[in-house]
Amino acid sequence: MTRIVYLNGEFLPAEEAKVSIFDRAFLMGDGVYEVTSVLGGRLIDFDGHVRRLERSLGELGIEMPMSAEELLGVHKELVEKNAIVEGGVYLQITRGVADRDFLMPEGLKPTVVLFGMHMNLVESPKAETGMSVGVTDDQRWARRDIKTVQLLYPSMAKTAAKKAGFDDAWLVEDGFVTEGTSNNAYIVTKDGRIVTRQLSSDILHGITRAAVLKMAKEAQMQVEERPFTIEEAKDAAEAFITSATTFVMPVVKIDGAEIGGGKPGPVAKRLREIYIEESAKLAS
Ligand code: PDD
Repeated sequence: MTRIVYLNGEFLPAEEAKVSIFDRAFLMGDGVYEVTSVLGGRLIDFDGHVRRLERSLGELGIEMPMSAEELLGVHKELVEKNAIVEGGVYLQITRGVADRDFLMPEGLKPTVVLFGMHMNLVESPKAETGMSVGVTDDQRWARRDIKTVQLLYPSMAKTAAKKAGFDDAWLVEDGFVTEGTSNNAYIVTKDGRIVTRQLSSDILHGITRAAVLKMAKEAQMQVEERPFTIEEAKDAAEAFITSATTFVMPVVKIDGAEIGGGKPGPVAKRLREIYIEESAKLAS
């Protein structure tokens, strides 16, 4: 089946979708993106993703090129055209095309790209075994709350972690964990409290994070939004990550140290179940 993508108002076979070499995302990393998961052919928490998109665009002074409703329509059509039952939709909006200049040109027509991905989100093998993370310095820029396409450092960190035998890396700044290379990071203390770093420009404001914390509170679990160290994490009862493409995923090894006996713990498992169950309520 030909992969159909969306580019600036048109649905096209992937090989026909071409973007200018003068696109500001290509030259300057001047663009933002979103990844929305698809379950049962429906988009999970599109409202959350589109709100964050509007915020990212606003922070960079890029106009929202169409309404949220129109954007939802494009997402749905893409899911349908590619018969995506489970996976995700990647959306990228760049400032547009202009001759190379450090000064951001005004009034450009944003480039809008969407493509779909087929993925096993629910029956993911790592959900059963848990994943391992290495630890590395957080050397990203200081506006991690903006979901920009300049992903070089996270990509370097993940690649180095893989080479060292880990599944991913947790990033540490001033002695405290910020987040994973492409996910938010959590521990569960021995007395059952879920700990994750508070929102600020130090981390991406995960859409899955917001939903999972709400569901945890509704299930009477204790949530603490504060920084934690790698030492505290290694001594924790459990650890896990969240993102649109992993949902809730247990972490069973941090920098070689086993967490919770090296097996996914009950809190992460329960939260994963709740999220998958409740995601139907967030679907459009
Ligand atoms: N990444 N933190 C970072 C640095 C991320 O890149 C992501 C998402 C998250 C989780 O956000 P959300 O729950 O909204 O997916 C946290 C996406 C999945 C990606 O880059 O593919």
